[in-house]
Amino acid sequence: MTNRKGIILAGGSGTRLFPITIGVSKQLLPIYDKPMIYYPISVLMLAGIREIAIITTPHDQDQFKRALGNGNDWGLNFTYIQQPSPDGLAQAYLLAEEFLDGAPSALILGDNVFFGHGLPEILAAADRRERGGTVFGYRVSDPNRYGVVGYDAQGRVTEIIEKPENPPSNYAVTGLYFLDETAPERARKVEPSPRGELEIVDLLRSYLDEGELDVQQMGRGYAWLDTGTHGSLLDAGNFVRTLSERQGQQVGCPEEVAFNKGWVSREKLDELASRYKKTNYGAYLSEIRKGS
Ligand code: TTP
Repeated sequence: MTNRKGIILAGGSGTRLFPITIGVSKQLLPIYDKPMIYYPISVLMLAGIREIAIITTPHDQDQFKRALGNGNDWGLNFTYIQQPSPDGLAQAYLLAEEFLDGAPSALILGDNVFFGHGLPEILAAADRRERGGTVFGYRVSDPNRYGVVGYDAQGRVTEIIEKPENPPSNYAVTGLYFLDETAPERARKVEPSPRGELEIVDLLRSYLDEGELDVQQMGRGYAWLDTGTHGSLLDAGNFVRTLSERQGQQVGCPEEVAFNKGWVSREKLDELASRYKKTNYGAYLSEIRKGS
């Protein structure tokens, strides 16, 4: 475990989910039984991260504070930061520079859901890499919607291109970036792209050009779900419902991760379970409290 801090980018405009996201932030919408942001929070927790900055639009910040509080219920510490306008993913490092205070970071997009056996291990490996950065390549059928990884004949990564018309591979870069403490300094050198955003691919390229970017493949045993459109949001909810009802185990449950890591006591878990006692979610927390 390093001194790595977490950043969740939960701003944006959510235009592909209009008219739903006119009145509410995308990352607070439900994926089956819990708010979307619970899933990326759980991922950072699985990586052992407890200091987390949550970046939101100015007008949504109060709702996030109401939904999540200061994090202490889950053994975490949340810092809320406003992004005045959605000027790109790499801006997160500028907005969070003071919060990071020289620490390495794991940035996760607030609308990304990851699931798969062995996730804690690949997160731990990324955390251990102190110098440079680690990102994850995931095979998708529609790479032109994402940042795409290009490989040479030896399988070495040669480029990462944002939304290419002719994708060099089917491997998209997921919304989870482990970068060292130089990320804010590098982000300052990123120029806005033609679409006016500080692009994360440009920041990643600065690592790649120095041979400091590790692109790990996340294999077919993992789910990396999109939640940005009406259909994909419903699909993600159905996926979580199917898995959790079949197995009787939660996906993306921060209380469970906190309890397993010893960050909250049994008494605290009791209190959280009773808060949700009218739901299956509350019943689940009671079950894990008993150690079943
Ligand atoms: P996108 O899906 O690229 O954008 P969006 O969420 O605004 O949605 P839409 O395309 O429907 O308008 O963003 C990916 C994630 O990053 C999402 O969680 C929102 C977040 N984000 C920010 O917080 N700030 C930003 O400047 C951008 C571009 C995205």
